[in-house]
Amino acid sequence: MLAINKKAALKFGIDTDFIEKKTDTQKNIEVLGNDLTFLSVREFERTKHVHRLHPYLGKFIPQLVEVFLKKYFKKGDTIIDPFAGSGTALIEANVLGINSVGIELSPFNVLIQKMKTQKYNIKEVEGEILDALKRLKNFSNLLQQKSSLLFDNKIDKFSTDSDYLNYWFSERALQEILFYRSIIKDYKNQGILKIILSRSARSARLIPHYDLARPQNAVRETYWCIKHKRYCDPIDEALKFINRYSYDSIRRIKEFDKLRTNAFIKIYQGDARTKKLPEELKFNGIFTSPPYVGVIDYHEQHRYAYELFNFPRQDELEIGPATRGQNGNAKREYVKGIVDVFKNASENLIDGALVFIVANDKYNLYPDIGKQCSFKLIDVFHRPVLMRTERDSNKYFESIFYFRR
Ligand SMILES: C[S@@+](CC[C@H](N)C(=O)[O-])C[C@H]1O[C@@H](n2cnc3c(N)ncnc32)[C@H](O)[C@@H]1O
Repeated sequence: MLAINKKAALKFGIDTDFIEKKTDTQKNIEVLGNDLTFLSVREFERTKHVHRLHPYLGKFIPQLVEVFLKKYFKKGDTIIDPFAGSGTALIEANVLGINSVGIELSPFNVLIQKMKTQKYNIKEVEGEILDALKRLKNFSNLLQQKSSLLFDNKIDKFSTDSDYLNYWFSERALQEILFYRSIIKDYKNQGILKIILSRSARSARLIPHYDLARPQNAVRETYWCIKHKRYCDPIDEALKFINRYSYDSIRRIKEFDKLRTNAFIKIYQGDARTKKLPEELKFNGIFTSPPYVGVIDYHEQHRYAYELFNFPRQDELEIGPATRGQNGNAKREYVKGIVDVFKNASENLIDGALVFIVANDKYNLYPDIGKQCSFKLIDVFHRPVLMRTERDSNKYFESIFYFRR
């Protein structure tokens, strides 16, 4: 293992022998110049610039993508990520001058990708974000000073038919969220305002601080917080999050704007099994991490955003959703779905294209998936997945399958 990562492992009390036993870190260093543990990469680097414009469960660590793109592709190449998720591969490719194409089923994930990768008029977007924030602050002041007026219906009170929104937010937070949503239409940069609102709504739900990713029930009273090791009160407002994420988004957009290159990024919403791409697009390779069998429901993960903005949902087209489980039938369906995606992407692959698939392949499905797609297996790299931000994540290992078409 790299000395710098060993040092970090010691600091975090991570068992390096266990990692060495399960992964060939020496081989990773020899072939890739990196042991793929990324232990010394700190949280703020893992979530640098637009990579943390909105949380997303199941995201690549950008440094992993960077290692592979740098080693196997060059400036001017074009890659495709048919499960583009929150857009990590597209962003890292762009920074390296590599063109990229993403396909993604979930319309909200597509919005995240677009808002992370689009070229902004910085002055304009900053002005709009701050103007919307100012209006929200005025509304919130009124809401608190004159709450009796508000609740006497002398000023407008917002309401929604969504049971989800009514259940998961305090009265004040819901009013602030619905007010902000109502003013988005007044601006040109509506997408980024939706991202700020969605991120804030996620944080402002009535959930315990330690359970942001998969909350079960709303908390309405003081509770013992495992994260902060003290009693905490339920979240009462959305304003402080909208305030924080407004400034945070401006900073992140500005940072990426300085790094971005002219390499193109094209994003397509749809089912990657059937989405037809323009014939003239030719790919030098694939870099992707597919959904795994029965682990995450990708639409449901961002339920608050779907409820707020009424994006159409296509849950039934998700490959390997958690709701379908991990039984034999689910696995067979999964393999067929993944094979269909790579066959479809193959139509635009050049001969000899390189295919990298990052998967926690505990059922050993990918060697056969590769065969069914006429991909030749060149190598497999293994890496530990550690130090993830959500409490519920146990440490596990993932593989990077390297195929050639
Ligand atoms: C593991 S995630 C990819 C995460 C991505 N690497 C990132 O860093 O954000 C898999 C993605 O595949 C998408 N997906 C699932 N079924 C799909 C399908 N039939 N067509 C296209 N995308 C699909 C999910 O919505 C999810 O965003």
